[in-house]
Amino acid sequence: MKSFSNYLYLFIVVTVLVACNQSKNQKETSVDIDQILSEMSVKEKVGQMTQLNLDVISVGEVFDLEEPHKLDSAKLRKAIVEYGIGSILNVGGHAYTLEHWNEIISTVQNIATTETNHGVPIIYGIDAIHGANYLLGGTLFPQPLAQAATFNPDMARKAAAMTAYETRASGIPWNFSPVLDVARQPLWSRVFETYGEDVYLCKRMGVATIEGYQGDDASDPYRVASCMKHFLGYSWSFTGKDRTTAYIPETQLREYFLPTFEAAVDAGSLSVMINSGDVNGIPVHADKRILTDLLRTELEFDGVAVTDWEDIIKLHQFHKIAPTLKDAVKMAINAGIDMSMVPNDYEFSDLLLELVNEGEVPMSRIDESVRRILVMKQRLGLFEDPFTPDNYEYPLVASDSFINHSYQIAGEAITLLKNVNGTLPISQDKKVFVTGPMANSLTMINGSWGRTWQGTDDQWDDTSKHTILDAIQANFAEVSFEQGCEINKLTQDKKAYNKARNSDVIIACMGEYPSTEKPGDIHSLNLEEAQIEYVKGLAKLGKPIVLVLVENRARVIREIEPLCESIVLAYQPSENGSDALADVISGEINPSGKLPVTYPKYTNSLILYDHKYTDQLNVDFGLGAFEPQFEFGHGLSYTNFEYSNLKVNKTDDNESISISVNVTNKGNRDGKESVLVFVSDLYASITPSVKRLRAFDKQMINAGETLVFEFVIDTDELAFVSSDNQWVTEPGDYTISIGGLTENITL
Ligand code: BGC
Repeated sequence: MKSFSNYLYLFIVVTVLVACNQSKNQKETSVDIDQILSEMSVKEKVGQMTQLNLDVISVGEVFDLEEPHKLDSAKLRKAIVEYGIGSILNVGGHAYTLEHWNEIISTVQNIATTETNHGVPIIYGIDAIHGANYLLGGTLFPQPLAQAATFNPDMARKAAAMTAYETRASGIPWNFSPVLDVARQPLWSRVFETYGEDVYLCKRMGVATIEGYQGDDASDPYRVASCMKHFLGYSWSFTGKDRTTAYIPETQLREYFLPTFEAAVDAGSLSVMINSGDVNGIPVHADKRILTDLLRTELEFDGVAVTDWEDIIKLHQFHKIAPTLKDAVKMAINAGIDMSMVPNDYEFSDLLLELVNEGEVPMSRIDESVRRILVMKQRLGLFEDPFTPDNYEYPLVASDSFINHSYQIAGEAITLLKNVNGTLPISQDKKVFVTGPMANSLTMINGSWGRTWQGTDDQWDDTSKHTILDAIQANFAEVSFEQGCEINKLTQDKKAYNKARNSDVIIACMGEYPSTEKPGDIHSLNLEEAQIEYVKGLAKLGKPIVLVLVENRARVIREIEPLCESIVLAYQPSENGSDALADVISGEINPSGKLPVTYPKYTNSLILYDHKYTDQLNVDFGLGAFEPQFEFGHGLSYTNFEYSNLKVNKTDDNESISISVNVTNKGNRDGKESVLVFVSDLYASITPSVKRLRAFDKQMINAGETLVFEFVIDTDELAFVSSDNQWVTEPGDYTISIGGLTENITL
């Protein structure tokens, strides 16, 4: 029975649109977990720890399902009734309609709750990493890296609440998001899934996202469980290739990779996914020190730890630390894994059952994991309401308010990297030539985790949405278009050059093909040669060029940067973000995005903003390495902000520092400004970073207006991890720098 009233509708709107508080999600219900546990057989317990791919219970072969997708009733019963599996994930190749999701989840829950001994509901998990991407028509938001460029965690919180709403509307209560890996390796294929290279920014955005997903209480029918991932050290592989070895000393692990997860645990994230790679040669899925000592004992995390895709199998197949699959299962479970994303067969369940019966995995270890899984189901309210769409309405799915929020995020994310001769904004009477492989494609602007995993299959595009070209055509009277070149193939298109010649300004939309994980590995960070050559060809025409970049990660553009009057980084703004991009170009939106990563100039000088002093240019003699194309935090506006009157004071007890700075909008346009507070520890017992981001705030400043930005930073926040792996704020001199102003302080 559907229960729906005006009051409920109001409640939905308010809960989705209002920022929520931190949550511990400790809701307990009438279900007696101890009782269920005491009555479960070992096979049923092992079943709970098993997570299968949807393909296994669908008509067709794994990875080759029949279309349209259908559940296979015999396979379903084998999984749920015979094996008693606890969880299902993923999608059979592409996004589904809301109705189809509802049919899948209600069927699954019906069998689990009525045909099994204890009626334990299934927990279904999905990757809805920038909106409900696997829901056809679900609202797509700009990718997380773009969200970070807004420096506006409130926007991310609201986007996450909307994503939770649409995901729960599908009947799915668990989202494998957010990615809390800090993007310290610019080559990595998953930089776009992160919140950038800075720990503090990643923490603020990650926590806001978790709050948006879970709200105060994840059993709310409009919320989902978050899954912080990928614990730990996934984003710093030595080679830059996905899932390869990271060499991370303990000090760095704690300084750069642990804090985001620690903050997420404090914010009440209900689950964690484990890093597929290895750290210092130990695959994390078998590392008890990380999975148990660090995660459970030190961080006191009490949620569910799920493996990444087939990662127990990989201990045997790829990492080669387990001579057999059975050894791999034993290693992983004894190290602290709760649930295995198997995902394509029952070997894990069979082997784990054997291992328990042989005494190789203690029953206490199994009980601990199963309890966590049952408690998570309880915290999500699944025992009471295994399928929320039976009892609640979801009228806001893909609503104008959701789509508009996605547009707003893109508007605050898009980063104006360069703008000379007042090239942007372009006045509407100008003849505009739009070109490049990113210009007329929805898949390119959506990126991976679109309607498919890699996001490259354009048959699922919603053609009612605007490509960049469509959006520019809506804003300008005279727009011509030729693609001109492909991502990695120069077509020497005469038509393109002719149209360019007859225009007033060229908008060249360049970038990279959507990709993630292993398929996104690259050999060079340079933007593909074909695009570089094409821009060089266009530059010979003497027309102003606006370079628009649509990228998974910052690709090197050194050779063409001097040829372009303006450069706009659009990230992957999504199908709702192209309008925002066109509005930035025409001046409807005053851009306010700032870089959440360092934009490198050379593919072999990948030095991040918070490097050491020895990385600076011209230290002592010779060439230093730090010479980026654009610095972390860089981003222009159509107005000018002037910073003045920086004041820094500390409390007498050295507990905190209060900072204030005036920011005046000197131009004649209103604009938003993100004020970034950097602190440098001048001398320290471990070579200090040249600076670290320690606070930020973003506000609208009207033309001619001065706003005072105020910050209070606990001196604990200035700490670094010392040689004995402890956080320490050492006494001494610190420099606070904001918008080119500096003040010193002694602690
Ligand atoms: C990815 C995870 C994702 C999982 C489930 C893996 O390959 O690394 O981030 O959550 O697949 O789709």
